[in-house]
Amino acid sequence: MKIAVLVERRPGEKRVAASPETVKKFKSLGAEVVVETGAGLQSSTPDQAYADAGATIAPDAASALSGADIVLKINRPLRAGEGAIDELSLIPRGAVLVAGLTPYVDQEGLSAYAAAGIQAFAMELMPRISRAQSMDILSSQASLSGYRAVIDAAAVFSRAMPMMMTAAGTIAPARVLVMGVGVAGLQAIATAKRLGAIVSATDVRPATKEQVESLGGTFIAVMDEEFAQAQTAGGYAKEMSPEYQAKQAALTAETIKKQDIVITTALIPGRKAPTLVTEEMVATMKPGSVIVDLAVEQGGNCPLSRVGEIVVTPNGVNIVGHANVPSRTAVDSSSQFAKNLFNFLSPFMNKETKKLDIKWDDELVVGTLLTKDGSIVHANFQPKPAS
Ligand code: NAI
Repeated sequence: MKIAVLVERRPGEKRVAASPETVKKFKSLGAEVVVETGAGLQSSTPDQAYADAGATIAPDAASALSGADIVLKINRPLRAGEGAIDELSLIPRGAVLVAGLTPYVDQEGLSAYAAAGIQAFAMELMPRISRAQSMDILSSQASLSGYRAVIDAAAVFSRAMPMMMTAAGTIAPARVLVMGVGVAGLQAIATAKRLGAIVSATDVRPATKEQVESLGGTFIAVMDEEFAQAQTAGGYAKEMSPEYQAKQAALTAETIKKQDIVITTALIPGRKAPTLVTEEMVATMKPGSVIVDLAVEQGGNCPLSRVGEIVVTPNGVNIVGHANVPSRTAVDSSSQFAKNLFNFLSPFMNKETKKLDIKWDDELVVGTLLTKDGSIVHANFQPKPAS
């Protein structure tokens, strides 16, 4: 059982898919782990730390991947023309690839994995059941993004977050609105509270009201019939009707004028992010206020946000659209991601035979496996029947 860990070559990516801790754990299950030299450099993990944990260090991707049974990655492998090397072509036929593969965005990738004869697992499709919580890359990465969004907002905000009563006068606490109270939103609320802000939050899923209040935030939402039905069995938000969105926009418009910082995290799986903060709303915000759009890479919750930029509007609002926010806390994001991968794979590793024995009918496998034996097998990505 040879496991390969590669350098992440996509621009701006600092994370790595294994930590010394997971290397040790994989070794104890009888695996051999090969780490490409420099894989952990950008997340403060030198080759020596992996070597001390029992990994072999390979001089390049080709030698790391030679003979690999399992390939661990953060992002999907580079294909021909995408970067310095064609990583996919170096992955042996029959190998298992476990990574964030963004299958809804990169459907071409599915055909490429099938043609390459790889068993490709897209970890972001992990079913949301309690058994799978420890394997959920969306949760582990979103949690750190929510924290970081508040820190990034504070860094741009030219006022203080907490109330301060000093001899020179009183500084008012910042008002923070968190829009979308999933995993990232909850961590953003908790972080903003710790910094002393007055926090309110909004979401379309009714279950979030109690969660916001338990963190000391004020819940703001249009609580009508549609709101009561807005959660899918999978725990995700549904796309709301145009009527609901109009009512929500009116309430948001009133609330947003009074905010200093707005953190938006609203997503609908497989679709463009909903617009929550319109240009008109931004025009009513105070100079110096800050919007952090965590949905910027999925089309944005604010039409003015731009991937990888801090846009300053004519009325002085700073709109922060950092790309790949989990990579901004690369050390913790990497170790959590690495643990997610270990927790997924370890039940299938046979310590006695030192072989990978995947249960193909396990619901977590069925939920995440994109390609197997040369075909696209995932139910969500089957070709549409000709009509
Ligand atoms: P997400 O990243 O897909 O969306 C973020 C938030 O945006 C969600 O709370 C969603 O309701 C909200 N949203 C969508 N449209 C909106 C709109 N128009 N206005 C306001 N808010 C809007 O969601 P995330 O963070 O991945 O998780 C959602 C929930 O799934 C969690 O809070 C949790 O209850 C559940 N979950 C369950 C897990 C498990 O059991 N294994 C693991 C992780 C999450």
